[in-house]
Amino acid sequence: MRTVYLNGEYLPENEAKVSIFDRGFLMADGVYEVTSVLEGKLVDFEGHAVRLERSLNELNMPHPITKEELLDVHRELVRLNDIDEGMVYLQITRGAPDDRDFVFPDPETTPCTVVLFTQNKPGLANSPAAKKGMKVISIDDQRWGRRDIKTVQLLYPSMGKMMAKAAGADDAWMVEDGHVTEGTSNNAYIVKGNTIITRQLSNDILHGITRVAVLRFAKEAQMQVEERLFTIEEAQDADEAFITSASTFVMPVVEIDGKAVGTGEPGSVAGRLREIYLEESIKAAV
Ligand code: PDD
Repeated sequence: MRTVYLNGEYLPENEAKVSIFDRGFLMADGVYEVTSVLEGKLVDFEGHAVRLERSLNELNMPHPITKEELLDVHRELVRLNDIDEGMVYLQITRGAPDDRDFVFPDPETTPCTVVLFTQNKPGLANSPAAKKGMKVISIDDQRWGRRDIKTVQLLYPSMGKMMAKAAGADDAWMVEDGHVTEGTSNNAYIVKGNTIITRQLSNDILHGITRVAVLRFAKEAQMQVEERLFTIEEAQDADEAFITSASTFVMPVVEIDGKAVGTGEPGSVAGRLREIYLEESIKAAV
């Protein structure tokens, strides 16, 4: 049984209880982060902590825990649960007032709820999916307008995964005004020759922590990076496609809406970036 963290306490997972009035439960009024663990260490903790602060600020939520405390809790959970490869999930909600109300509660009387738990995923770095590549379908992006805030409103992305599953694919790329925004839980990229193309940052997509690192490694490896809009047709005609996220690192995409991308096999650019990303992330992990 896992040991989880809830509001300052380490508890067995079946003893950690949250109120039915919690605004995370009633209103999806909460933010989250997923930090990967490789060789028992946290990958890009700093990036996730900074994004969390930004998400809290954008929603006028208090900061219930300092960055230093947060690092300690992450490390303690990794230790207590003996995680070598996997993830730490963190969620902060606007807490549990006495009753359901659309108006935000007073933070003085309603403290935030802070939850962290680990997910053990042995073999995450050596995932067979990375050798096989993923199939994606395109779907209409029907999420709200502040996708740059990492909120727990994940119903539409979850529906997107189900649409992909029903179509015999692994994931969905969402499309708005004719252009790809991102995957249901990852950022989307295409490759043409030596150039990597990915949508520019705005409120339309989550500012991926893995994205920052991968674009930096790509530039260091003398690849060109273009941050711009692209369509599903352009992606289908590209040499390669891939996604990035904290839980998948760099994962090749080999098929889009039933059409093979490039050779239909995982591409060399995605493969190389995955290798560099894993190597550098393990080196810098804390
Ligand atoms: N998802 N875009 C969306 C919509 C995401 O949900 C995620 C992450 C990303 C990639 O961000 P990062 O590189 O910081 O993980 C992009 C996490 C992994 C999840 O929901 O499980």
